[in-house]
Amino acid sequence: MSRRRLDRRLRAPSILSHQVNNRMPHKILILPGDYIGPEIMTEAVKVLELFKAEGEALEWSFGHLGGAAYDAEGHPYPESTRQAARAADAILLGAVGGPKYDGLPRELRPERGLLGIRKDLNLFANLRPALAFEELAGASSLKKEIIAGLDILILRELTGDIYFGHPRGRRTTADGDEEGFDTMHYSVPEIERIARVGFEAARKRGKRLCSVDKENVLETSRLWREVVIRVAAEYPDVALSHQYVDNAAMQLLKNPKQFDVIVTGNLFGDILSDEASMLAGSIGMLPSASLDEHGKGMYEPIHGSAPDIAGQDKANPLATILSMAMMFKYTFDRLDLSKRIDAAVKQVLAAGHRTGDIAQAGEKIIGTREMGDAVVAMLVK
Ligand code: IPM
Ligand code: MG
Repeated sequence: MSRRRLDRRLRAPSILSHQVNNRMPHKILILPGDYIGPEIMTEAVKVLELFKAEGEALEWSFGHLGGAAYDAEGHPYPESTRQAARAADAILLGAVGGPKYDGLPRELRPERGLLGIRKDLNLFANLRPALAFEELAGASSLKKEIIAGLDILILRELTGDIYFGHPRGRRTTADGDEEGFDTMHYSVPEIERIARVGFEAARKRGKRLCSVDKENVLETSRLWREVVIRVAAEYPDVALSHQYVDNAAMQLLKNPKQFDVIVTGNLFGDILSDEASMLAGSIGMLPSASLDEHGKGMYEPIHGSAPDIAGQDKANPLATILSMAMMFKYTFDRLDLSKRIDAAVKQVLAAGHRTGDIAQAGEKIIGTREMGDAVVAMLVK
Protein backbone atom coordinates (compact mmCIF):
# COMPACT_ATOMS: atom_id res chain seq x y z
CA MET A 1 0.00 0.00 0.00
CA SER A 2 1.35 3.45 -0.88
CA ARG A 3 2.23 5.84 1.93
CA ARG A 4 -0.52 8.21 0.80
CA ARG A 5 -3.18 5.54 0.77
CA LEU A 6 -2.08 4.38 4.18
CA ASP A 7 -2.27 7.92 5.54
CA ARG A 8 -5.76 8.33 4.16
CA ARG A 9 -6.77 5.03 5.67
CA LEU A 10 -5.40 6.11 9.03
CA ARG A 11 -7.05 9.52 8.92
CA ALA A 12 -10.60 8.32 8.31
CA PRO A 13 -13.16 9.77 10.76
CA SER A 14 -13.63 8.20 14.15
CA ILE A 15 -15.36 4.85 14.17
CA LEU A 16 -17.61 5.73 17.05
CA SER A 17 -19.49 8.01 14.72
CA HIS A 18 -19.31 5.66 11.75
CA GLN A 19 -21.95 5.21 9.11
CA VAL A 20 -24.40 2.61 10.25
CA ASN A 21 -24.10 -0.71 8.47
CA ASN A 22 -27.52 -1.18 6.91
CA ARG A 23 -26.66 -4.07 4.68
CA MET A 24 -29.35 -6.72 4.98
CA PRO A 25 -29.25 -9.38 6.07
CA HIS A 26 -26.45 -8.75 8.56
CA LYS A 27 -23.73 -11.24 7.79
CA ILE A 28 -21.88 -12.71 10.74
CA LEU A 29 -18.89 -15.02 10.54
CA ILE A 30 -18.53 -17.28 13.56
CA LEU A 31 -15.08 -18.57 14.46
CA PRO A 32 -15.46 -20.85 17.50
CA GLY A 33 -11.72 -21.56 17.81
CA ASP A 34 -10.14 -23.99 20.25
CA TYR A 35 -10.86 -25.87 23.50
CA ILE A 36 -13.78 -24.11 25.25
CA GLY A 37 -14.32 -21.90 22.15
CA PRO A 38 -16.92 -24.13 20.47
CA GLU A 39 -18.77 -24.68 23.78
CA ILE A 40 -19.22 -21.01 24.59
CA MET A 41 -20.04 -20.20 20.99
CA THR A 42 -22.84 -22.77 20.92
CA GLU A 43 -24.51 -20.79 23.71
CA ALA A 44 -24.06 -17.46 21.93
CA VAL A 45 -25.61 -18.91 18.78
CA LYS A 46 -28.74 -19.73 20.79
CA VAL A 47 -29.21 -15.98 21.20
CA LEU A 48 -28.80 -15.40 17.46
CA GLU A 49 -31.33 -18.14 16.75
CA LEU A 50 -33.82 -16.50 19.05
CA PHE A 51 -33.42 -13.09 17.36
CA LYS A 52 -33.73 -14.67 13.95
CA ALA A 53 -36.91 -16.44 15.00
CA GLU A 54 -38.20 -13.05 16.09
CA GLY A 55 -37.72 -11.85 12.51
CA GLU A 56 -34.29 -10.17 12.59
CA ALA A 57 -32.44 -10.34 9.28
CA LEU A 58 -29.38 -12.21 10.49
CA GLU A 59 -27.30 -14.70 8.60
CA TRP A 60 -24.31 -16.55 9.92
CA SER A 61 -21.73 -19.05 8.81
CA PHE A 62 -18.87 -20.84 10.53
CA GLY A 63 -15.16 -20.80 9.85
CA HIS A 64 -11.86 -21.79 11.40
CA LEU A 65 -9.26 -19.75 13.22
CA GLY A 66 -6.31 -20.71 15.40
CA GLY A 67 -5.58 -24.33 16.23
CA ALA A 68 -8.89 -25.50 14.77
CA ALA A 69 -7.87 -23.90 11.47
CA TYR A 70 -4.47 -25.52 11.63
CA ASP A 71 -6.11 -28.90 12.19
CA ALA A 72 -8.59 -28.44 9.36
CA GLU A 73 -6.57 -26.48 6.82
CA GLY A 74 -2.94 -26.45 7.93
CA HIS A 75 -2.80 -22.73 8.77
CA PRO A 76 -4.07 -20.69 11.76
CA TYR A 77 -5.57 -18.02 9.45
CA PRO A 78 -6.33 -19.83 6.20
CA GLU A 79 -7.37 -18.21 2.96
CA SER A 80 -10.96 -19.50 3.32
CA THR A 81 -11.29 -17.69 6.65
CA ARG A 82 -9.68 -14.55 5.25
CA GLN A 83 -12.21 -14.39 2.44
CA ALA A 84 -15.19 -15.12 4.67
CA ALA A 85 -13.96 -12.52 7.21
CA ARG A 86 -13.61 -9.88 4.53
CA ALA A 87 -17.10 -10.59 3.22
CA ALA A 88 -18.74 -10.54 6.67
CA ASP A 89 -20.12 -7.46 8.45
CA ALA A 90 -19.05 -8.76 11.84
CA ILE A 91 -17.10 -11.66 13.27
CA LEU A 92 -17.74 -13.52 16.49
CA LEU A 93 -14.73 -15.30 17.88
CA GLY A 94 -14.55 -17.83 20.72
CA ALA A 95 -10.96 -18.32 21.86
CA VAL A 96 -7.81 -19.69 20.30
CA GLY A 97 -4.69 -21.50 21.44
CA GLY A 98 -3.75 -24.28 23.82
CA PRO A 99 -1.14 -26.88 24.68
CA LYS A 100 -1.89 -29.07 21.69
CA TYR A 101 -0.35 -26.39 19.49
CA ASP A 102 2.52 -25.26 21.70
CA GLY A 103 5.10 -27.24 19.77
CA LEU A 104 4.27 -25.72 16.38
CA PRO A 105 6.63 -23.27 14.71
CA ARG A 106 5.77 -19.69 15.60
CA GLU A 107 4.13 -18.82 12.29
CA LEU A 108 1.70 -21.71 12.63
CA ARG A 109 0.73 -21.09 16.26
CA PRO A 110 -2.94 -20.24 16.94
CA GLU A 111 -1.97 -16.79 18.29
CA ARG A 112 -0.62 -15.96 14.85
CA GLY A 113 -4.09 -16.55 13.46
CA LEU A 114 -5.53 -14.05 15.91
CA LEU A 115 -2.86 -11.42 15.26
CA GLY A 116 -3.18 -12.10 11.53
CA ILE A 117 -6.91 -11.46 11.34
CA ARG A 118 -6.63 -8.31 13.50
CA LYS A 119 -3.97 -6.87 11.22
CA ASP A 120 -5.53 -8.08 7.97
CA LEU A 121 -8.89 -6.47 8.75
CA ASN A 122 -7.28 -3.34 10.22
CA LEU A 123 -9.09 -3.84 13.54
CA PHE A 124 -7.06 -1.18 15.30
CA ALA A 125 -9.42 -0.16 18.10
CA ASN A 126 -9.91 -2.70 20.84
CA LEU A 127 -12.59 -1.81 23.36
CA ARG A 128 -12.36 -3.74 26.60
CA PRO A 129 -14.93 -2.60 29.14
CA ALA A 130 -14.41 -3.58 32.77
CA LEU A 131 -17.70 -3.46 34.53
CA ALA A 132 -18.25 -4.63 38.09
CA PHE A 133 -21.54 -6.50 38.17
CA GLU A 134 -23.18 -5.71 41.49
CA GLU A 135 -24.31 -9.31 41.75
CA LEU A 136 -20.69 -10.51 41.60
CA ALA A 137 -19.06 -8.03 43.97
CA GLY A 138 -18.10 -10.90 46.26
CA ALA A 139 -16.33 -12.78 43.46
CA SER A 140 -13.62 -10.15 43.00
CA SER A 141 -10.39 -10.47 44.94
CA LEU A 142 -10.71 -6.78 45.83
CA LYS A 143 -12.80 -5.25 48.60
CA LYS A 144 -16.40 -4.59 47.64
CA GLU A 145 -16.20 -0.85 48.26
CA ILE A 146 -13.25 -0.48 45.90
CA ILE A 147 -15.08 -2.03 42.95
CA ALA A 148 -18.77 -1.31 43.61
CA GLY A 149 -20.15 0.64 40.67
CA LEU A 150 -16.95 0.35 38.67
CA ASP A 151 -17.37 1.05 34.95
CA ILE A 152 -14.21 1.66 32.98
CA LEU A 153 -13.32 1.24 29.36
CA ILE A 154 -9.86 0.20 28.31
CA LEU A 155 -9.14 1.19 24.76
CA ARG A 156 -6.18 -0.75 23.45
CA GLU A 157 -4.50 -0.02 20.13
CA LEU A 158 -4.45 -3.40 18.40
CA THR A 159 -2.54 -3.36 15.13
CA GLY A 160 0.73 -1.62 15.97
CA ASP A 161 3.41 -1.40 18.65
CA ILE A 162 5.97 -4.04 19.54
CA TYR A 163 3.46 -6.73 18.54
CA PHE A 164 4.03 -6.00 14.86
CA GLY A 165 7.30 -4.04 14.86
CA HIS A 166 10.27 -4.86 12.67
CA PRO A 167 13.06 -5.73 12.86
CA ARG A 168 12.53 -8.61 15.23
CA GLY A 169 14.22 -11.90 15.65
CA ARG A 170 17.28 -13.59 17.08
CA ARG A 171 20.90 -12.73 16.48
CA THR A 172 24.34 -13.18 17.91
CA THR A 173 25.93 -10.29 19.74
CA ALA A 174 29.54 -9.17 19.28
CA ASP A 175 30.35 -11.19 22.39
CA GLY A 176 28.94 -14.31 20.78
CA ASP A 177 25.79 -14.41 22.92
CA GLU A 178 22.44 -15.22 21.40
CA GLU A 179 19.86 -12.47 21.89
CA GLY A 180 16.23 -11.90 21.00
CA PHE A 181 14.95 -8.48 19.92
CA ASP A 182 11.69 -6.73 19.04
CA THR A 183 10.90 -3.22 17.90
CA MET A 184 8.36 -0.90 19.50
CA HIS A 185 7.02 1.82 17.26
CA TYR A 186 4.01 4.02 16.63
CA SER A 187 3.50 6.52 13.84
CA VAL A 188 1.70 9.83 14.29
CA PRO A 189 -1.37 8.76 12.23
CA GLU A 190 -1.65 5.54 14.23
CA ILE A 191 -1.59 7.45 17.52
CA GLU A 192 -3.98 10.09 16.24
CA ARG A 193 -6.65 7.66 15.17
CA ILE A 194 -6.68 5.66 18.41
CA ALA A 195 -6.56 8.88 20.45
CA ARG A 196 -9.62 10.14 18.57
CA VAL A 197 -11.52 6.96 19.37
CA GLY A 198 -10.51 7.48 23.01
CA PHE A 199 -11.76 11.06 23.11
CA GLU A 200 -15.01 10.15 21.31
CA ALA A 201 -15.61 7.27 23.71
CA ALA A 202 -14.94 9.50 26.73
CA ARG A 203 -17.27 12.11 25.31
CA LYS A 204 -20.08 9.54 25.30
CA ARG A 205 -19.30 8.44 28.87
CA GLY A 206 -17.77 10.29 31.82
CA LYS A 207 -15.71 12.76 29.73
CA ARG A 208 -12.40 11.69 31.24
CA LEU A 209 -9.58 10.13 29.25
CA CYS A 210 -6.38 8.80 30.79
CA SER A 211 -3.58 8.08 28.34
CA VAL A 212 -1.16 5.43 29.58
CA ASP A 213 2.43 5.33 28.37
CA LYS A 214 6.03 4.98 29.55
CA GLU A 215 7.09 8.45 28.55
CA ASN A 216 9.84 8.64 31.15
CA VAL A 217 11.76 5.90 29.34
CA LEU A 218 10.55 5.18 25.79
CA GLU A 219 10.84 7.31 22.64
CA THR A 220 7.66 5.72 21.30
CA SER A 221 5.83 6.90 24.41
CA ARG A 222 7.22 10.43 24.14
CA LEU A 223 5.72 10.75 20.69
CA TRP A 224 2.52 9.05 21.89
CA ARG A 225 2.05 11.63 24.62
CA GLU A 226 2.80 14.60 22.36
CA VAL A 227 0.28 13.44 19.78
CA VAL A 228 -2.43 12.70 22.35
CA ILE A 229 -1.98 16.21 23.77
CA ARG A 230 -2.26 17.68 20.28
CA VAL A 231 -5.45 15.75 19.51
CA ALA A 232 -6.90 16.85 22.86
CA ALA A 233 -7.28 20.36 21.46
CA GLU A 234 -10.15 19.02 19.32
CA TYR A 235 -11.95 17.80 22.43
CA PRO A 236 -12.01 20.62 24.96
CA ASP A 237 -14.95 19.00 26.75
CA VAL A 238 -12.91 15.92 27.68
CA ALA A 239 -10.47 16.04 30.62
CA LEU A 240 -7.19 14.42 29.61
CA SER A 241 -4.70 12.97 32.07
CA HIS A 242 -1.56 10.85 31.67
CA GLN A 243 -0.12 8.00 33.70
CA TYR A 244 2.95 5.87 33.36
CA VAL A 245 2.01 2.27 32.82
CA ASP A 246 3.59 1.04 36.05
CA ASN A 247 1.64 3.60 38.05
CA ALA A 248 -1.55 2.82 36.11
CA ALA A 249 -1.16 -0.85 37.02
CA MET A 250 -0.99 0.16 40.66
CA GLN A 251 -3.81 2.72 40.47
CA LEU A 252 -6.11 0.12 38.89
CA LEU A 253 -5.93 -1.87 42.10
CA LYS A 254 -5.72 1.04 44.51
CA ASN A 255 -8.51 3.21 43.21
CA PRO A 256 -9.96 1.89 39.94
CA LYS A 257 -12.96 4.20 40.03
CA GLN A 258 -10.72 7.19 39.24
CA PHE A 259 -10.76 5.96 35.61
CA ASP A 260 -13.36 6.50 32.94
CA VAL A 261 -11.63 5.68 29.62
CA ILE A 262 -8.02 4.51 29.43
CA VAL A 263 -6.29 4.71 26.04
CA THR A 264 -3.02 2.89 25.55
CA GLY A 265 -0.82 0.96 23.15
CA ASN A 266 -1.02 -2.68 22.21
CA LEU A 267 1.37 -4.18 24.77
CA PHE A 268 0.38 -2.06 27.77
CA GLY A 269 -3.29 -2.59 26.89
CA ASP A 270 -2.85 -6.34 26.78
CA ILE A 271 -1.50 -6.36 30.31
CA LEU A 272 -3.77 -3.74 31.86
CA SER A 273 -6.92 -5.31 30.43
CA ASP A 274 -6.16 -8.66 32.05
CA GLU A 275 -5.56 -6.86 35.32
CA ALA A 276 -8.80 -4.91 35.00
CA SER A 277 -10.75 -8.10 34.34
CA MET A 278 -10.13 -9.15 37.92
CA LEU A 279 -11.92 -6.02 39.12
CA ALA A 280 -15.01 -7.36 37.39
CA GLY A 281 -14.93 -10.56 39.40
CA SER A 282 -13.96 -12.96 36.66
CA ILE A 283 -12.26 -12.90 33.33
CA GLY A 284 -15.19 -15.06 32.26
CA MET A 285 -17.44 -12.00 32.28
CA LEU A 286 -15.62 -9.57 30.00
CA PRO A 287 -16.43 -8.98 26.36
CA SER A 288 -14.43 -7.03 23.79
CA ALA A 289 -14.80 -5.40 20.42
CA SER A 290 -12.06 -4.85 17.87
CA LEU A 291 -13.13 -2.32 15.28
CA ASP A 292 -11.90 -0.97 11.99
CA GLU A 293 -12.67 2.54 10.80
CA HIS A 294 -16.02 1.65 9.34
CA GLY A 295 -17.54 -0.02 12.37
CA LYS A 296 -16.83 -3.51 11.12
CA GLY A 297 -15.73 -5.53 14.08
CA MET A 298 -14.56 -8.74 15.56
CA TYR A 299 -16.13 -9.55 18.91
CA GLU A 300 -14.61 -11.93 21.40
CA PRO A 301 -14.46 -12.65 25.11
CA ILE A 302 -11.18 -11.46 26.57
CA HIS A 303 -10.50 -14.79 28.25
CA GLY A 304 -8.52 -17.56 26.60
CA SER A 305 -9.38 -21.08 25.50
CA ALA A 306 -9.15 -22.61 29.03
CA PRO A 307 -7.83 -26.06 28.04
CA ASP A 308 -8.10 -27.26 31.66
CA ILE A 309 -11.90 -27.13 31.62
CA ALA A 310 -12.56 -27.76 27.92
CA GLY A 311 -15.22 -30.31 27.02
CA GLN A 312 -16.58 -30.45 30.57
CA ASP A 313 -19.53 -28.08 30.30
CA LYS A 314 -17.86 -25.79 32.86
CA ALA A 315 -16.94 -22.65 30.89
CA ASN A 316 -18.78 -19.38 31.42
CA PRO A 317 -20.47 -18.35 28.15
CA LEU A 318 -21.45 -14.88 29.40
CA ALA A 319 -18.41 -12.99 28.06
CA THR A 320 -19.15 -14.37 24.59
CA ILE A 321 -22.83 -13.48 24.86
CA LEU A 322 -21.89 -9.98 26.07
CA SER A 323 -19.49 -9.70 23.12
CA MET A 324 -22.48 -10.31 20.88
CA ALA A 325 -24.25 -7.46 22.66
CA MET A 326 -21.29 -5.25 21.71
CA MET A 327 -21.66 -6.40 18.11
CA PHE A 328 -25.27 -5.27 17.95
CA LYS A 329 -24.25 -1.93 19.45
CA TYR A 330 -21.12 -1.07 17.49
CA THR A 331 -21.49 -2.76 14.12
CA PHE A 332 -25.25 -2.90 13.63
CA ASP A 333 -26.30 0.12 15.68
CA ARG A 334 -29.02 -1.98 17.31
CA LEU A 335 -28.93 -0.61 20.81
CA ASP A 336 -32.27 -2.24 21.51
CA LEU A 337 -30.91 -5.76 20.97
CA SER A 338 -27.66 -4.92 22.70
CA LYS A 339 -29.45 -3.65 25.79
CA ARG A 340 -31.77 -6.64 25.84
CA ILE A 341 -28.79 -8.99 25.99
CA ASP A 342 -27.06 -6.93 28.70
CA ALA A 343 -30.27 -6.85 30.74
CA ALA A 344 -30.82 -10.60 30.35
CA VAL A 345 -27.29 -11.30 31.62
CA LYS A 346 -27.88 -9.08 34.63
CA GLN A 347 -31.16 -10.84 35.35
CA VAL A 348 -29.52 -14.23 35.11
CA LEU A 349 -26.92 -13.14 37.65
CA ALA A 350 -29.55 -11.58 39.89
CA ALA A 351 -31.46 -14.88 39.78
CA GLY A 352 -28.36 -16.54 41.22
CA HIS A 353 -27.16 -18.53 38.21
CA ARG A 354 -23.42 -19.12 38.52
CA THR A 355 -20.80 -21.02 36.56
CA GLY A 356 -17.80 -22.15 38.61
CA ASP A 357 -15.67 -19.08 37.89
CA ILE A 358 -18.17 -16.67 39.41
CA ALA A 359 -19.55 -18.82 42.20
CA GLN A 360 -18.73 -18.17 45.82
CA ALA A 361 -18.47 -20.82 48.49
CA GLY A 362 -21.79 -22.59 48.94
CA GLU A 363 -23.39 -21.32 45.74
CA LYS A 364 -24.89 -23.82 43.33
CA ILE A 365 -22.84 -24.18 40.17
CA ILE A 366 -24.41 -24.68 36.76
CA GLY A 367 -22.84 -25.67 33.45
CA THR A 368 -22.16 -23.83 30.21
CA ARG A 369 -25.33 -25.07 28.50
CA GLU A 370 -27.58 -24.30 31.44
CA MET A 371 -26.15 -20.78 31.62
CA GLY A 372 -26.80 -20.22 27.91
CA ASP A 373 -30.35 -21.53 28.30
CA ALA A 374 -30.91 -19.25 31.29
CA VAL A 375 -29.97 -16.19 29.21
CA VAL A 376 -32.26 -17.25 26.38
CA ALA A 377 -35.10 -17.83 28.85
CA MET A 378 -34.65 -14.29 30.19
CA LEU A 379 -34.61 -12.91 26.65
CA VAL A 380 -37.83 -14.69 25.79
CA LYS A 381 -39.73 -13.28 28.76
C1 IPM B 1 -5.38 -10.92 24.03
C2 IPM B 1 -4.43 -12.09 24.01
C3 IPM B 1 -3.62 -12.06 22.73
C4 IPM B 1 -2.81 -10.78 22.73
C5 IPM B 1 -2.74 -13.29 22.50
C6 IPM B 1 -3.52 -14.58 22.57
C7 IPM B 1 -1.96 -13.20 21.22
O1 IPM B 1 -3.64 -12.09 25.14
O2 IPM B 1 -6.23 -10.83 23.12
O3 IPM B 1 -5.30 -10.12 24.96
O4 IPM B 1 -1.72 -10.74 23.30
O5 IPM B 1 -3.28 -9.80 22.15
MG1 MG C 1 -4.16 -10.62 26.57
